[in-house]
Amino acid sequence: MRNFRKHWGVARWTAGLAAWAAATGALAQPGLTRVDRLMYLGNPTCTGAKCHSGDPKMQGGQLIGDEFTIWTDSDPHAKAFKTLSNAASKAIASKLSIESAASSARCLSCHAADVPAGQRGERWALDQAVSCEACHGPAEKYLEPHAKAGWTAGQRKSLDVKGMREAHGLLDTSNLGLRATMCTACHLQIDKDLVDAGHPELQFEMGWYNEYLWNENYATHWTKPEGDPVSARLWAIGQMVSLDAARAQVESWRAKGWDASSAEGLVALYGKGAEVAKKHFGAGGVDALQTAAISAASAAAAAADLAGLAGSAANQQQREIVLFGVASLVFSCHDLNGTEPPDEFWDIYDGAMSAEGAAFGAQVQALAAMAK
Ligand code: HEC
Ligand code: HEC
Ligand code: HEC
Repeated sequence: MRNFRKHWGVARWTAGLAAWAAATGALAQPGLTRVDRLMYLGNPTCTGAKCHSGDPKMQGGQLIGDEFTIWTDSDPHAKAFKTLSNAASKAIASKLSIESAASSARCLSCHAADVPAGQRGERWALDQAVSCEACHGPAEKYLEPHAKAGWTAGQRKSLDVKGMREAHGLLDTSNLGLRATMCTACHLQIDKDLVDAGHPELQFEMGWYNEYLWNENYATHWTKPEGDPVSARLWAIGQMVSLDAARAQVESWRAKGWDASSAEGLVALYGKGAEVAKKHFGAGGVDALQTAAISAASAAAAAADLAGLAGSAANQQQREIVLFGVASLVFSCHDLNGTEPPDEFWDIYDGAMSAEGAAFGAQVQALAAMAK
C-alpha cells in the first residue's frame, strides 16, 4: 500500500498568494523556466546544515530546512540527469543521431539546469539535474537576503510574482499559476521527433503530479496547506495552464511540419477540463482560482462531471489525465472534511490505471462517488 500521506500534515505554505497575470508567455518556454542574465550558483550553495539540509524548523509560517535531503533521497528530479545515461536514453539518442544524451542540449533542456555559459556559477554543474534553482530561479540576488527569517514572506507581501522574478530572480512557487506554468514548461512541451524516437509521451495533471503520487519512494519537500482544497485548485488551474501549454505544443509541431493530431487530442481534453473547472469553481480564470471558494460539494460535482469525460479519453495518456484529475478532486473533498478516502480507493484507482473503454469509465465514476 502507498504511504502517500507520510510527508503531509504540516501546513508549510504561506497564505496570501500574489496576483498572477496569466499573460506571462515569457515563462512558458519549453525547458527550464529561465531567468536571463542572473547567475545560477548551483546546489552546493543551498545545502548548508543551517540552510536546506538540516533539521526543519518553523520560519515565517513554513517548516524549512530539510529540502535538500528530501530532494536527494526521494525527488524524481534529482535523478533526471542520470537518466540520460540509461539504456532507454541511449536508444532514443541513437535514433536521433545524438552522440551523447548527457551532453546534448536537446535532452539537457529538461533533464538539467542547462543555462548559458555566462550564467553558470562556480559551483553549478549539469549533474545537479533539475536543481533547486531550476524551479526556484537563479540565486545570485536572493541567496544572501533570503536567508533571513521572514524575508521571502515579506517580499511576497510587497511584490507580485513578476516583481519577485524581476527584482530578485526568484520564481514564487507558492503562486499556483506560476507553479503550473513552470511545471508544464518541462512536462507538456516536447518535440515530436523525440516522442517518435521512444521518449515517453508527456501528459500532465497538476494536482496529482504536485504530490508525486506515482511511486511510494517519491516525496515532495513541500506539503499541502491544511483545510484548503489545494488539490482542486491545482487541478483547475492545471487544466487552464496545460491547455495553453498544449496549444503551444501544437503550434510548434505544425511550424516544424509534424503531424500534430496526437497533440491536438490533449488540447481538446484540457479544454473540456477547463470548462468543467469554470462551471463549478467560477469563470474567473487562473488568478481568481487561487482564492476562489471551493466547497466539498462543488469539488464533488466537478469530479462527477470530469468522470463523465472518461469516454472522450482516446488513449492511456488521456485516460491518466482524467483519472488523476478525478482523484485530485476526491482528495480535496476529504481534505476539506478532514477525512481520508475509503480503503478501496487505491484498489479501484489501480484497476482504472489498467482499464480501457466502459470498464475505465465505470471505475473512474466509482472514484468520483468517493468525493464526499
Ligand atoms: C526543468 C524541467 C522540469 C521542471 C521545471 C519540472 N520537472 Fe518534473 N520532471 C522533469 C524530468 C526530466 C523528469 C523525469 C526524471 C527522470 O526520471 O529522469 C520529471 C519527473 C517528474 C515526476 C515523476 C514522474 C514519473 O512518472 O515518475 C513528477 C511527479 C514531476 N516531475 C512533477 C513535477 C512538478 C509538480 C513540477 C512543478 C512543480 C515539475 N515536475 C517541474 C523535468 C522537470
Ligand atoms: C520537454 C522536456 C524534455 C526533453 C526535451 C527531454 N525530456 Fe526526457 N523526460 C521529460 C519528462 C517530463 C519525463 C518524465 C515523464 C513522466 O513520467 O511524466 C522524461 C522522461 C524520460 C525518460 C524515462 C524516464 C526514465 O527514468 O527512464 C527517458 C529515458 C528520457 N526522458 C530521456 C530523454 C532523452 C534521451 C532526451 C533527449 C533526446 C530527453 N529525455 C529530452 C522531459 C523531457
Ligand atoms: C520540481 C521543482 C522544484 C525543485 C527541483 C525544488 N523545489 Fe523547492 N519547492 C517547489 C515547490 C512547488 C514548492 C512549494 C511552494 C512553495 O512553498 O513555494 C517548493 C517549496 C520550497 C521551500 C519552501 C518550504 C515548503 O515547505 O514549502 C523551500 C525552502 C524550497 N522549496 C527549497 C528548495 C531547495 C533547497 C531545493 C533543492 C534541493 C528545491 N527547493 C528544489 C518546487 C521545487
